[in-house]
Amino acid sequence: MSEYVLTVEKLMMHFGGIKALSDVSLKVKRNSIFALIGPNGAGKTTVFNCLTGFYKATGGRIELQTRGMKTNVIKLLGEPFQPTDFVSLRSFASRLYYKMFGGTHLVNRAGLARTFQNIRLFREMSVVENLLVAQHMWVNRNMVAGILNTRGYRQAEEDALNTAFYWLEVVDLVDCANRLAGELSYGQQRRLEIARAMCTRPQVICLDEPAAGLNPQETEALSGMIRLLRDEHDMTIVLIEHDMGMVMGISDHIVVLDHGNVIAEGGPEQIRNDPKVIAAYLGADEEELA
Ligand SMILES: Nc1ncnc2c1ncn2[C@@H]1O[C@H](COP(=O)(O)OP(=O)(O)OP(=O)(O)O)[C@@H](O)[C@H]1O
Ligand SMILES: [Mg+2]
Repeated sequence: MSEYVLTVEKLMMHFGGIKALSDVSLKVKRNSIFALIGPNGAGKTTVFNCLTGFYKATGGRIELQTRGMKTNVIKLLGEPFQPTDFVSLRSFASRLYYKMFGGTHLVNRAGLARTFQNIRLFREMSVVENLLVAQHMWVNRNMVAGILNTRGYRQAEEDALNTAFYWLEVVDLVDCANRLAGELSYGQQRRLEIARAMCTRPQVICLDEPAAGLNPQETEALSGMIRLLRDEHDMTIVLIEHDMGMVMGISDHIVVLDHGNVIAEGGPEQIRNDPKVIAAYLGADEEELA
C-alpha cells in the first residue's frame, strides 16, 4: 500500500455552466490530519461530495487505498444515467439500485466516512439508535437468522451495541445514549455525527466544518478528539474548517482552494505566510485569517 490513502487528480465538477471545481489535485498521507481550507464558495464541500460519492465528478480521478485495496471512486459509482438505459433492463435495474442505496454507501463500504456541514442525524431516534443504524452493513441482516434469533445474530447485535458505546465514550456522550438526537445541543450533535461516522469502521473520515457553532472549549476538546483518532485509532482525517486557530494547530498538511482551484499547499507555517492565501481570504472575509 502506498503512503497515500487518498489521491485526487485533476478533479472537475461542473453544474451546467457553473464550474464548482476546475482542476483539483491533492494527496492525503495515511494516518495524518489533512485540512482543506478556502473562502466561502471555494468548492470545499463539493470536493467532499465527490470523494464520498454524493456527486459523481465530471472529470478527473479519485483513488482510495483502504482496507488493503485500491478503489477507483468515480468508476465505483457507475455510469451516469442515460435515457436509453430504459431499453436495457439490466442497466435500468442497476440504476434503480444506485438510486435507492446511493453512491455514498459504496464509498463508505470501501472505507471512507463523512460528517456534514449541515448536521444530518435521525432527530427522532435516540442517540444510540443513530449509531446502530449506521452499522447496518456490518450486522447480519439475514431475516431468517433474525426470526430464529440465532446465536450469530445475537452476537452481531451485541457487537453493534458495544461499538456504539465505545464511540459514545470517545465523544463523551454516554450519558445521552437514550436521549433523542434532536434534543442534543449543537456541539453534542456534531460529536454524535463523528461517532456515527466512526461506527461504520472507516479508515478515512472527512469532517465538514466540525467546529462550526462550537465555543472555544468545545473546539479545544474537538481538536483533542481528532488527534486521538489519528494517534490511537490509525485514522486519516480530512478536515474542512474555517476556524484557522484549529486548522493551524492540528493539521499536518493543508491545501487551499479558491474558485475551484488549488492555490497553495504546505504545512501550517507555510500556508499562514503565503501571500496568495492571504489575498484569497482578504478578498472574502478579513477576520478569518486573523
Ligand atoms: N448542486 C449544486 N448545483 C449548483 N451549484 C453548486 C452545487 N453545489 C455547489 N455548487 C456551487 O459550487 C460552488 C462551491 O460550493 P461549495 O459548497 O463547495 O463551497 P464551500 O467551499 O464548501 O463553501 P463554504 O465555506 O461556504 O461551505 C458554489 O458556487 C456553489 O454555489
Ligand atoms: Mg462548504
